[in-house]
Amino acid sequence: MKHESVLVLDFGGQYNQLIARRVRECGVYCEVKPYTTSVADLKAAGYKGIIFTGGPNSVYDPTSPKCPREVLTLGIPVLGICYGAQLMAHLLGGDVSTCAVSEYGKTAVWADDASPLFQGIPEQFYCFMSHTDHISSLPAGFVNTAHTADCPNAAMENREMGWYAVQFHPEVEHTAYGTEILNNFLYNVCRCSGDWKMSSFVEDQIQALREKIGDKKVLCALSGGVDSSVAAVMVYKAVGKQLTCIFVDHGLLRKDEGDQVEEIFRRQFDMNLIRVDAKDRFLGKLSGVTEPEKKRKIIGEEFIRVFEEEARKIGKVDFLVQGTIYPDVIESGLGGSAVIKSHHNVGGLPDHVDFEELIEPLRNLFKDEVRAAGEELGIASHLVWRQPFPGPGLAVRVIGDITEDKLSILRESDAILRKEIANAGLDRSINQYFTVLTGNRSVGVMGDFRTYDYTIAVRAVTTSDFMTADFARIPYEVLEVVSSRIVNEVPHVNRVVYDITSKPPATVEWE
Ligand code: XMP
Repeated sequence: MKHESVLVLDFGGQYNQLIARRVRECGVYCEVKPYTTSVADLKAAGYKGIIFTGGPNSVYDPTSPKCPREVLTLGIPVLGICYGAQLMAHLLGGDVSTCAVSEYGKTAVWADDASPLFQGIPEQFYCFMSHTDHISSLPAGFVNTAHTADCPNAAMENREMGWYAVQFHPEVEHTAYGTEILNNFLYNVCRCSGDWKMSSFVEDQIQALREKIGDKKVLCALSGGVDSSVAAVMVYKAVGKQLTCIFVDHGLLRKDEGDQVEEIFRRQFDMNLIRVDAKDRFLGKLSGVTEPEKKRKIIGEEFIRVFEEEARKIGKVDFLVQGTIYPDVIESGLGGSAVIKSHHNVGGLPDHVDFEELIEPLRNLFKDEVRAAGEELGIASHLVWRQPFPGPGLAVRVIGDITEDKLSILRESDAILRKEIANAGLDRSINQYFTVLTGNRSVGVMGDFRTYDYTIAVRAVTTSDFMTADFARIPYEVLEVVSSRIVNEVPHVNRVVYDITSKPPATVEWE
């Protein structure tokens, strides 16, 4: 079924996929395309509305990204945001100039609730501003609909033509009523009916995958993480046994994790799953290695090698599935916005696997949308809601050289922490929590005897994007149970400490 849809026309801002995600939250399918998309393509797609995004440029710079004026006159309502608002003014004959005072951050705004955009919203609210240019005079036919202390034209509209513009960012959380403003645009202006929900996305994707793949062969590297699992199940629902999943068990997973992955994918879904027990290979390569980056490199390379060897046994496949999600695209700097950090995932793409094309069914989704898709697909909720786990696994949580004994101490202590966090009902509010086997040994006393054993560190953080994070305020009573269970139940641990640093300056992982 073809859904009504709205287009986000991308002029290079950082929040572009966030706009699309907010629109989808309002029940309308939305996609992001570059500003260079041709007018013919825009017409052919039959969009109900177009949103011009923000961007770092100035419209009066001749080299700044611009779309043809014709995009505004297709009879499709347009909402301009920040740079997009200024571009609308510029294309329609208004003036844009440098602000006397630039605005950044939370800013009080007064808006006219007679506007279809601000209907049902208090006259004054806080919005998120980030601009050094502003609309200094409105194009003919427009009226002003909002202002701040320093920005006289914080919003403008020409209702007759379906042109709306806001200088602030309704898509970010710091703008109160931001989702309501987008909702108003979609329903009051674009007259959308709201026919989109995650279940329709999943059905559409499965159908599209079925058409694309036909009777060809597909290969997937399954890690047991949320993204590759959801991508694999989606492809499996489309083409069943034409899909083969390779699960490289590097022996650096948490307690029982490898078996759980096998249980879900082989028994629940009856997939073609190849589990490669490569523990000895990985531990052999890692023996005596203490330097964190070296560990990561060894694991990444070995992972690809094992995967390639298994793939070679299968022979040529037509497609390779990857669980790439939207934040991976931005972090790798492929999304058109500025590079924030280079993604440090295990593996990357294997060089020697014979496949024709990459399939990335989750490329436009945010993590929570991926989880919602996973639930739609019937994947067990403990997997769908799993906390992030680094590709190099426990190797970056054993400080210094890695041995089987140390991994076992780490696994047992981590399992206790996870159990107690779940018992305390904190497993969804703390975004990531794990134990670290520090290289430190210290003196303790057990019974009447002196001990000289390891220190386990507990790390737990709250964060929305993992780029910055705060240490979680775990209640002392919970920490107490965790600490006493670990020292009592895990041999060779006589001390437990809690890491109370935020990121920055620390990172989430210790290595
Ligand atoms: P840091 O330690 O960089 O971690 O603050 C941020 C998030 O990324 C995860 N992480 C990794 N994920 N490969 C991954 O796939 C890696 O090498 C890696 N290192 C860190 C970390 O668990 C946290 O969620």
